[in-house]
Amino acid sequence: MTDQKRVLGFIGGSGVYSVDALEDPKKIVVTTPWGEPSDALVRGKLAGVEVVFLARHGNGHRIPPSDVNYRANIDAMKRLGVTDIVSISSCGSFREDLVPGSFVIVDQFVDRTTMREKSFFGSGFVAHVSMADPVCPALATALVESCTALDIDHATVGTYLAIDGPQFSSRAESHMYRSWGCDVIGMTNMPEAKLAREAEIPYATLAMVTDYDCWRENTGPVEVGHILETMTKNTANAARLVSDLIPRLGAIRKPSPLGIETALDMAVITPPNA
Ligand code: ADE
Repeated sequence: MTDQKRVLGFIGGSGVYSVDALEDPKKIVVTTPWGEPSDALVRGKLAGVEVVFLARHGNGHRIPPSDVNYRANIDAMKRLGVTDIVSISSCGSFREDLVPGSFVIVDQFVDRTTMREKSFFGSGFVAHVSMADPVCPALATALVESCTALDIDHATVGTYLAIDGPQFSSRAESHMYRSWGCDVIGMTNMPEAKLAREAEIPYATLAMVTDYDCWRENTGPVEVGHILETMTKNTANAARLVSDLIPRLGAIRKPSPLGIETALDMAVITPPNA
């Protein structure tokens, strides 16, 4: 595979509902065989880079995590020619040093969701893609570089545990997830990351810490009111980061070091004409 034109996709979670700096933004309504995406996608340019944005929870944050049509969202991005996806998501922290307001460039996921459609494949046509390395190292490296350049407090790696929600965890669950070695918790990055891999689109996550979940002895339960306070600061930093990241990645992309663009070549197990 040779270098190609980049179409950089962003999926914005809680607090991130647009890329304001986009030049000449145009709304595009995409229909997919999987149903409706969360919202119209917005296509524009920044620093000569083609960018596509989608608000994961839709206009006005009306779609709860388990009702997001992840398959339609990823398929819509694929149909618009998106070559790389950066997901921006709020999360809780399982580590003392990952303070609210800091960012984590996730490198691993643990999927505890159960109520979601997780594959484009199924009965009649079976494929097994690898999720051993779920994140594109080139995108993750650029995210780290942007955080460093902007002096945003960040961790360069971290394991993101995905739960269905919409409720936050119990204290027992919070302690258990910590004991598993998870670093942050959120409700949306799975099955998004799995579907991006099935769609052969390199994917990375910028996880923005809003709270300490509920494992700390003297910290009260997670409350949306508290989260919203931190989210305002995170949203401002996310906007700065996106403006730095887009020119850093540039208009031309190299093939992913993991061969993600051909992930299905070795994954389909159903023989042709079966
Ligand atoms: N999103 C933000 N904070 C969270 C938490 N503590 N648990 C799950 N999802 C979250």
